[in-house]
Amino acid sequence: MCGIVGYIGHRDAYPVILKGLQRLEYRGYDSAGIALYDGLEIKLSKTKGKVADLELKFSQQIEPKGSLGIGHTRWATHGIPNDTNSHPHFSNSGDLVIIHNGIIENYEALKQELIKRGYHFSSDTDTEVLINLIEDIQKNNGLKLGKAVQVALNQVIGAYAIAVFDIKKPNEIVAARLGSPLAIGVGEGEFFIASDASPFLEYTNNAVYLEDEEMAIISLHNPLNIRKIKDDRLVSPYVQELKINLEQIEKGGYDHFMLKEIFEQPHAIKDTYRGRLLTDEGIIKMAGIEDHMAKFLNANRIIIVACGTSWHAGLVAEYIIEELVRVPVEVEYASEFRYRNPVIDNSDVVIAISQSGETADTLAAIKLAKEKGAFVFGVCNVVGSSISRETDAGAYTHAGPEIGVASTKAFTTQITVLTLIALRLAKAKGTISNTDFRAHLVELEMIPKKVEEVLKSETLTKEIAAIYKDVSNFLYLGRGFNFPVALEGALKLKEISYIHAEGYPAAEMKHGPIALIDENMPIAVIATKYGHYEKVVSNIQEIKSRKGKIIAVVTKGDTQVKGIADHVIEIPETIELLSPLLTTIPLQLLSYHIAVMLDKNVDQPRNLAKSVTVE
Ligand code: AGP
Ligand code: GLU
Repeated sequence: MCGIVGYIGHRDAYPVILKGLQRLEYRGYDSAGIALYDGLEIKLSKTKGKVADLELKFSQQIEPKGSLGIGHTRWATHGIPNDTNSHPHFSNSGDLVIIHNGIIENYEALKQELIKRGYHFSSDTDTEVLINLIEDIQKNNGLKLGKAVQVALNQVIGAYAIAVFDIKKPNEIVAARLGSPLAIGVGEGEFFIASDASPFLEYTNNAVYLEDEEMAIISLHNPLNIRKIKDDRLVSPYVQELKINLEQIEKGGYDHFMLKEIFEQPHAIKDTYRGRLLTDEGIIKMAGIEDHMAKFLNANRIIIVACGTSWHAGLVAEYIIEELVRVPVEVEYASEFRYRNPVIDNSDVVIAISQSGETADTLAAIKLAKEKGAFVFGVCNVVGSSISRETDAGAYTHAGPEIGVASTKAFTTQITVLTLIALRLAKAKGTISNTDFRAHLVELEMIPKKVEEVLKSETLTKEIAAIYKDVSNFLYLGRGFNFPVALEGALKLKEISYIHAEGYPAAEMKHGPIALIDENMPIAVIATKYGHYEKVVSNIQEIKSRKGKIIAVVTKGDTQVKGIADHVIEIPETIELLSPLLTTIPLQLLSYHIAVMLDKNVDQPRNLAKSVTVE
């Protein structure tokens, strides 16, 4: 789950790598380190903490010179976050240096073997074992670095994206991947290596994404050499032109990426339905669905697999798809699904949802579903990500890069894509009338404008945040389509403010959580004017009689809840099944402002990382 960056070319490598690491900090921020070759020796600086700490340390220690280097920002898996366990790691001779994202599962056995052969280890990491294994193989067999890396990787079980260089051949970097992402930026007389393309966007638009089980020998004197790790087969590099720009990954005047991303939602939703939602023609066009329509229409069930916020989007989709398409939908935590021998066959369609497209559990669930014969469809945000490649077909959310660790625009764009899918299938299956279909298209097209309107509630949510920022517990309640929004609201608050919060279906409250309610307990209730409105109003009454504090999200013009609740946030009217796209916004803003007032690190909350590539 770390971020890796490498550079070889004609520029000073240090600023390129440092800035690249800052952009990749969303992947982990336990420690950071850079190794530079200055023409004579390798200069290494690494430290527990953030890239900013590294910058400080580096500037005090050594002059950062050289046009070959590698850097790392860590999310620890093996060994606590401290200076010694930070990457890069040297081999025992000091000749080889490595950065690694992933886990070497058989590292202990390999380590014991290497210890018998006289190797010693200063860190607790699996990575240091790998670099010494490479050195051992290189020495014993007189191999070039690329070959030694290949032989070593064939002995390794686990996941990795690595970059290695050898002081004896300082015009080449060897990179490889299995299960962790790795992109190579191809410039004029220079190459970049990174976990995603963001570190090299200002230098080149050309990128090669390594596939699993591929390695690259990146040299200034030879063309890019990509081969299969297992059988050494040469692969001709597929150079992709990147469509993201620098502005998309910078904060653009906002204090935090999370806030910027919350405010980007009107655009992100529009970008996601653009070209797919054709209101004038009265159709939805989605290539990924059209090409596999029979699979979807003949499916006995749809199973959705995902984690975290993406799982919540899956729950919203369950309500939407069942309502519109009348096919049973099950939503599974990918991490549970993959380990419980699920009953699944080729009559099932699996939809995997993932912002990053790199979540290890979701990836494993996809592989399992495919083995069992199911057709797997992906809903990802990151283009070219592992999940988007592993699935049989898919549809991207066009949210643009999401940097804040707490997911916001990914959630609403996932719901947008899943709604488009549901509507398209309902049309094909005849489970929706033409009039309703058109009405839904028109409503969906108006959502971005309505999101803009909800965003105006920021000042109000800030005021509410100031009142409740010091509580220790929060409850979130919702029903039907908005029950998953309650779960998502609670997750957002937990993640960034560290306040304990739980989401419940409103009617479940009386089966337990009501015992928690007293005058100190704030409860956010989604009480929009739909089918269950009266029931939710009764739930609010029950809370009020126990002196709980109500923050209600209501439909514009509501008077009934206004009379009872302590605070009311209005959203514009829309069709019930689209309402999560609006109700979720004030909850995002509320948790954001609470976290800011508590002085928490909103974009990089403790213990978390943006993409969870460990199982
Ligand atoms: C969301 O705020 C979280 N940080 C997390 O739950 C996330 O949604 C989860 O890890 C899944 O990630 P993915 O969408 O990239 O697969
Ligand atoms: N396993 C390595 C470590 O603990 C890399 C961690 C990762 O990529 O998550 O340092």
